Amino acid sequence: MQKLALDHLQAFIEIAQQQSFSQAAKALNTSQPSLSRKLKQLEKSLGVTLIDRYHRPLKLTPAGQFFYDKISAVLTEIDTISQMTRRMVSPNHALNIGFVPSVLYGLLPEVIAVLKQSCPDLEVTLNDISSYQQIAALKSGDIDIGFGRFFHHDPWICQILLRHERYVAALSKQHPLASNPAPLSLKDLTNNRLILYHQTPLPAPNSLQADAEVFAADEFESEPLLHIFANYGLTPMATTKVSDLQIALGLVAANEGVTLVPQALQSLRPEQICYRKLIHEAVTSPIYLHTLKDAPHPAVHQLLQAVYHVYEQRGITYRPQKFV
Ligand code: BEZ
Repeated sequence: MQKLALDHLQAFIEIAQQQSFSQAAKALNTSQPSLSRKLKQLEKSLGVTLIDRYHRPLKLTPAGQFFYDKISAVLTEIDTISQMTRRMVSPNHALNIGFVPSVLYGLLPEVIAVLKQSCPDLEVTLNDISSYQQIAALKSGDIDIGFGRFFHHDPWICQILLRHERYVAALSKQHPLASNPAPLSLKDLTNNRLILYHQTPLPAPNSLQADAEVFAADEFESEPLLHIFANYGLTPMATTKVSDLQIALGLVAANEGVTLVPQALQSLRPEQICYRKLIHEAVTSPIYLHTLKDAPHPAVHQLLQAVYHVYEQRGITYRPQKFV
């Protein structure tokens, strides 16, 4: 087998993406004949045709499609490793934290204040970024730590479950249920309009799990709040989808519907909104700390200690995790 370089793989990926030799040559700042030669060498070494040259625009053969899917994942990994390696020799003394809005409205400001007491010289920056985007941002070095609410399977990422936070129901003070202080059941809420505000669907259950646990794709409810209702066999009579939590609470304040929010948010809009406990202990939202498995930022340990310190001050129960 002929010796291949990263160059050959990059040439193939670019041709596949651009569907054109001339566009790919332009993107890689090289000549068309050189690109075409690299593709031929790659095909010769594999013994397969990867690109159907008679098709316009250029098209991958079935073998080419397979190779593209596998090799582009490998190249992304190589890119991640290269970026991490470069960062090892130029450590960043600032700590860039990614967070989802619901943790900012909750305990994040207190956690940062405690961290700054123990590391007064540490420069901290905060970036509003969704749970899923935090994974790519950790790999690219845009953030060092992420606080999110979804679990991710990723070989590069270490996830520490900080705690499960209970959801509460948010109702307008004008709502008929607002006058009764007893905890509510989800069933009490189903004849209301439910305001949905999550931007990211829940990941579908892994299809490789034991058969008994596999949901048919159309049975799985991926909208996070509807998923909670579906777990109790319930469906709200109507829903409205909005772009963020603050807008959802605005609609609740206007008595346009009800929603569920993590408990730490119950200080928002207290003049218009009443927050009611739910009877279901299992209706919770997890909070995760995400970081890179290899070479995490040195301040991660202090940050985890700051989180636990805040939990202890507030009497929040948690299970301490070791960062390995
Ligand atoms: C929490 O609410 O548990 C939390 C919020 C922000 C950072 C860490 C923990």
